[in-house]
Amino acid sequence: MRGFSKRALDIQPTGVRKMFDMAGDDVISFGLGEPDFQPPQIAIDAMYQAMKDGHNKYTTTAGLPALRSKIAESWHDLCPGLDQSNVCMTMSGTNALLNIFATLVNPGKNVLLPEPYFPLYGPDVGLWGGEARFYECLFENEFVPTVEHLESLIDEDTIAILYNFPSNPTGATITESQRNDLLAFAQKHDLWLITDEVYDRIVFDGEHVSFVGCDDERVILVNSFSKTFAMTGWRIGYIMSANSEAMAQMTKLQYYITACSNDAMQYAVLAAFENANDYPDEMCAEFKSRRDLICSRLNAMPGVQCHVPEGAFYVFPKVDVPGLSSEEVAIELLKGGVLCSPGSAFGPSGEGHLRFAYTISREDISLGMDKTEAVLKRLRGD
Ligand SMILES: Cc1ncc(COP(=O)(O)O)c(C=O)c1O
Repeated sequence: MRGFSKRALDIQPTGVRKMFDMAGDDVISFGLGEPDFQPPQIAIDAMYQAMKDGHNKYTTTAGLPALRSKIAESWHDLCPGLDQSNVCMTMSGTNALLNIFATLVNPGKNVLLPEPYFPLYGPDVGLWGGEARFYECLFENEFVPTVEHLESLIDEDTIAILYNFPSNPTGATITESQRNDLLAFAQKHDLWLITDEVYDRIVFDGEHVSFVGCDDERVILVNSFSKTFAMTGWRIGYIMSANSEAMAQMTKLQYYITACSNDAMQYAVLAAFENANDYPDEMCAEFKSRRDLICSRLNAMPGVQCHVPEGAFYVFPKVDVPGLSSEEVAIELLKGGVLCSPGSAFGPSGEGHLRFAYTISREDISLGMDKTEAVLKRLRGD
């Protein structure tokens, strides 16, 4: 009989999308998780040149060797042994995540995932018959999970844990000591450690703390050029692991998912790496002043508490409007001309929060914050 798979029917549209669908054109949008910058000109030129040079064909599944070597090299301070065989190009971080879960998850097994979360993680695990088991990253703990809490969730069917720092939606980062504790937990239970570090180049006050180089056997990195070079629409990313068996399995599967990544685009990313490697730092400086602006505005509003995040381009304030859910608050804000995402779109512990992406100009942030303040004051009766 005709119909649709249970796996397709079970997946729901994300709550982030829902707000976009309700929004008119004239709102100030804090909704979009993508940099409001264009890719480095050098990459655009290199892509055009590569196409003119005939790089319009399939590449090997793992991708352009020169680019993979360059990527491996960029991690040598943490893991000097990496080379091109440890990297497989993908068509985005989204694609990398799908591949990794397809490679690791068997039906009946479970994977520990952060919550609040990037909304793709859970469905990605479920697609392969696995159980998404969420660990809480709470405001009270600066959005970093405690090992005690992780211990309470694990059982003999847990095969992997995913960490995401800097985090979407909270902007949280970790210290080296927190990284070591989270690593030790994965080692103690012999779990795969999947680390989504797509925001690794958007870190403000200190150095990015990575899991790369920590444990060659279990660490699998998801990364992407969407945020690093403002190329969200290009769709290019990679998987990297020092575990050669894992790389062989994932590269094999990548063939069945996309055959390979985009030929000319790989030359463009290589050019960006070679000639515009400080580009993310320039974006980062701008994001940092926006972060300071939005946090100081939010923290001055009655009923709002906001951590000052160390990475990515999101703030995830606690917003107290008695009697209203975060979705209802977000809808009221939308009526007042501001689009943001309700915290509940990122999981139950996001309830009581809103996510603002500061991917708009400082002028618009100020305007959007004026409107937010007016709506919240009205709703709270301040
Ligand atoms: C935490 C996280 N991981 C992965 C991705 C996927 O990024 P892309 O598919 O554009 O590479 C995103 C995108 O917003 C994200 O926020």
